[in-house]
Amino acid sequence: MSAVVVVGSANIDFTVQVDRAPEQGETIFGRDLLVSFGGKGANQAVAARRAGADVMFIGKVGQDRHGEEIRKNLETVGIDGAGLISDAACGTGVAFILVDPSGGNQIVVVPGCNYRLTPEELESRDQLLGGAILLVQLETPRETVHWVLRRAKEKRMRTILNPAPATPLRREDFSLVDLLTPNETEASALTGVPVKDLNGAKKAGDRLLEMGCGDVIMTLGVRGALWVGKGGARHFPAFSVRPVDSTGAGDAFNGALAAALAEGRTLEKAIPFANAAGALATTRRGAQESLPDRTAIDALLSSGQ
Ligand code: RIB
Repeated sequence: MSAVVVVGSANIDFTVQVDRAPEQGETIFGRDLLVSFGGKGANQAVAARRAGADVMFIGKVGQDRHGEEIRKNLETVGIDGAGLISDAACGTGVAFILVDPSGGNQIVVVPGCNYRLTPEELESRDQLLGGAILLVQLETPRETVHWVLRRAKEKRMRTILNPAPATPLRREDFSLVDLLTPNETEASALTGVPVKDLNGAKKAGDRLLEMGCGDVIMTLGVRGALWVGKGGARHFPAFSVRPVDSTGAGDAFNGALAAALAEGRTLEKAIPFANAAGALATTRRGAQESLPDRTAIDALLSSGQ
């Protein structure tokens, strides 16, 4: 039984560097095309694996070249392929990513097979779902996310929902979530509360608690992370690094958080570990290429920054 089960998307990412985003109706030149492995689900599974966890990934790809490459890549990283479903009726998900000189990005996802992952398919693989932690995002259908959260709670797993991309959720979804990990944009979209500073983040976090989830850990980019729980809020500053591409930073954070919690670390210790992984992921291009390993995370963590 794997310690961390990740249910979510797997994509092939097409990333280009641009000087700025194009205006409406405008054509611009990009450069340095990078074709690489992505998808929030697969990224978080790889991040947890690199952070030291035993990981099961459950997702769906097409019976095409991209799907085959994703299967081989997961095996290379050391993730059991038993949960990767191949479907001839849909294409493997892809994402188109523009990265600007500050490392900020804009992403368009074509979900393909990711949006064909059904609760029935998860139910028929119920034996794969177990262990300490379930980590799930919102790049698969909402009913599938709801099903797996409910089933994980029945199996007494600790559930983490990274609500990305932001999608409206019901109280019955929130009530199945032990840890909700939005970024500022997602927290704001879910609550209607503007998140421009720590005060706004705290208000949005409190609102999310009222909506029914257990604890909120909000990622705040260069401001680090804010943990909002029933006992109050606690801020964890970011590690200072030179960013080149923020793609996958949130995924690094979530995967590392799941790995640390699966090891039995407390949230006080797991959040700085995840912050270090997220910071390191911004220092390299791409999503999965940029995910740090345990040695690098431990080194940044003990650097005393
Ligand atoms: O979080 C980054 C990821 O979002 C990319 O890898 C892309 O595939 C999209 O899913």
